Amino acid sequence: MSGLAFIGGSGFTVMGGLEVIDHERPETPFGPPAAPVTRGRLGDTECLFLPRHGIGHGVAPHRVRYRANIWALRACGAERVVGLAAVGGIGSRFAPGVLAVPDQIIDYTHGRDHSFRDGEAGELLHIDFTKPYCEDLRRALLGAAGAAELEVVDGGTYGATQGPRLETAAEIARMERDGCDFVGMTGMPEAALAKELGLCYAGLAFVVNWAAGKAAGGIQMQEIEANIAACRVGVERVVAVLAAAG
Ligand code: HPA
Repeated sequence: MSGLAFIGGSGFTVMGGLEVIDHERPETPFGPPAAPVTRGRLGDTECLFLPRHGIGHGVAPHRVRYRANIWALRACGAERVVGLAAVGGIGSRFAPGVLAVPDQIIDYTHGRDHSFRDGEAGELLHIDFTKPYCEDLRRALLGAAGAAELEVVDGGTYGATQGPRLETAAEIARMERDGCDFVGMTGMPEAALAKELGLCYAGLAFVVNWAAGKAAGGIQMQEIEANIAACRVGVERVVAVLAAAG
């Protein structure tokens, strides 16, 4: 096993190109993960895959059992975890269709179980979260995109919102003033939990719409779905090259 795992979000309840070996159902202290963990092969490399919101994409972002998902992946042998994330673009560089490997996070979520180590679920620990993502895995993702001859933005601040509703225009304007480049609903607490368990975690974001107030005409679900389908091709190429690198 390569120790490489992928968490799929919107548009990624299955991973194209993954040849399934088996499904594992690890028990965790936080209940079952959103779905059985798929062990499979991408090319010659054995990897893990877990759809964050469950097989039918039925679990809302604020109800995802992030702790169970991360715990289960580690129990199955994950060491490096890529969180795939559909996002709304805020900054002008992040138009629909753009891929990015974020390097910072601002967390606007609330009420989620965001620690294994909060004094109740394990001895209290304050992780250093100055750099929320694993730089080695960020570099590997950027290298894979380069090798696949795909453009990808190196860096960007991921603003994590509560969902499941999309944001108001004023919320996005505030996030832009805060320094957010794009917005999604699931980047936290996933990244922090992975760090607590010592996993090397990075995100691969793909922009599927302009965030609220950034384009005339509001946000249409058909537009999001069409952009997910368009981004899927590039994301799967990056994933395939990353896996081939071992
Ligand atoms: N906001 C929050 N999450 C998202 C968006 C958005 O505009 N697009 C895709 N995920």
